[in-house]
Amino acid sequence: MPKITVYPDNDSLVKGTTDFIADLAARAIAERGRFTLALSGGSTPNPVYALLATPEYRDRIDWSRVLIFFGDERCVPPDDPRSNYLMAKNALLDHVPLPPDNIFRIRGEDPPEKAAADYIDALQNTFGGDPLAGAPPEGFDLNLLGMGDNGHTASLFPGLAAVTETFRWVMPLYVEVVGMWRVTMTPVVINASRTVAFLVSGAKKADVLQRVLEGPYQPVVLPSQIVKPASGELHWLLDEPAAAKLRRES
Ligand code: 6PG
Repeated sequence: MPKITVYPDNDSLVKGTTDFIADLAARAIAERGRFTLALSGGSTPNPVYALLATPEYRDRIDWSRVLIFFGDERCVPPDDPRSNYLMAKNALLDHVPLPPDNIFRIRGEDPPEKAAADYIDALQNTFGGDPLAGAPPEGFDLNLLGMGDNGHTASLFPGLAAVTETFRWVMPLYVEVVGMWRVTMTPVVINASRTVAFLVSGAKKADVLQRVLEGPYQPVVLPSQIVKPASGELHWLLDEPAAAKLRRES
């Protein structure tokens, strides 16, 4: 069962999510010596990344032991305003003492097939597993995800084959509704995570959130439903406007 936390407004959601990340980081570093974090793109996490970079949070985390990955990337150069990497760099990565080698970005400037293949290599080097034998990698300590108002997550958009992929770890895909190539982690990697947390804010997401959490299971239509960590935890971190249509809240 997912654990749903509803905050009264966006500010408290941002603070709650930032605490959630900092606490998980401390626990993972204490238990396993490192914290592996997959960041989501989109605009919702921007204030969380910015808050993580403030002294209060920055100094709580041993950044030399943090490894940063990305759940998906738009196929644009890293200095393009649409780049998920650029958003994270501006809000967080440039402001914390992260060794450059600890940042694993998806190379959106490369041909999508190559960017996906290289990212599979990066994941295998860090997490083991065997992408050619269907053995998933050891999971991220935290896989942070967003959700679009059509129910997509990472770049798993409705109707695309990547949503139900059970073998490949990372895939390139052309996404008609946004008119661009993307590279995305598939459910194989996402569902191997120790913890997955969706961060969802705002009334615009309320209808689709209700369908994702309480409607019939139809992941090809509502890709966020495919996210079910095999042995990890699933959290939904919401604000009141996003949660407004839910029948059950906790
Ligand atoms: C991306 C994403 C995507 C995003 C959602 C929510 O690259 O766009 O990773 O899955 O998280 O679309 O985006 P917003 O936070 O902007 O609503």
